[in-house]
Amino acid sequence: MTYQDGFETLAIHAGQEPDPVTGAVVPPIYQVSTYKQDGVGGLRGGYEYSRSANPTRTALEQCLAALEGAPRALAFASGMAAEDCLLRTVCSPGDHVLVPDDAYGGTYRLFARVFAGWGLTHDVVPISHVAAVREQLATRKPAVVWAETPTNPLLGIVDIRALAEAAHEAGALLVVDNTFASPYLQHTRPPSTWAGTPTWSAGPWWSPTPNSPSGSPLPRTRPAAWPARSTRG
Ligand SMILES: Cc1ncc(COP(=O)(O)O)c(C=O)c1O
Repeated sequence: MTYQDGFETLAIHAGQEPDPVTGAVVPPIYQVSTYKQDGVGGLRGGYEYSRSANPTRTALEQCLAALEGAPRALAFASGMAAEDCLLRTVCSPGDHVLVPDDAYGGTYRLFARVFAGWGLTHDVVPISHVAAVREQLATRKPAVVWAETPTNPLLGIVDIRALAEAAHEAGALLVVDNTFASPYLQHTRPPSTWAGTPTWSAGPWWSPTPNSPSGSPLPRTRPAAWPARSTRG
């Protein structure tokens, strides 16, 4: 699979090679915590403990990465877990972040109550107004510009390309957190042009009812984002 394949082809096939042992065409769910090793460090297929990596999650991550044309995707049990891991990976105490003025409540509380104690400061901006964001960027350089589109709750729309340009000119990482819309129409491919970290919500739009939360930040061009895998566990 390459990202030149269409979205539909990648969604069905990427990360879903038939099971090498049984030939099962859909990846089985591996309900196991620990994997046998052939001696110290002798991992079979790279797996040792399911929290760190497991074949079921790998299949999902490979599919998401292919859909985004990204080198790697990370899947989490919830969107907030994805946000927390991403921020602890790309930010350090003393860094600054721009947050939408109608950010999802859980996201705002993460910044205001959790990361504030960690030394991460934030300013609230009307994220749909790129000129206002640019003004704020001129006063203080953030490590991250956080965006949602459409926003939750007010359904504000963000011009991702314009925001990415503004953020990158300021040396900041743009995170696009996605909850309501399919990222299908928000593609930032090819990755080299719109470098950023989209997060895909697997709750509201993947499942018929919003009852299966999960989120996936997709570290793209920033090497700094790669340690996210070990931050997750
Ligand atoms: C924009 C946004 N980000 C993050 C989340 C958190 O996702 P989760 O409930 O999977 O933790 C939500 C949940 O509704 C959301 O709307």
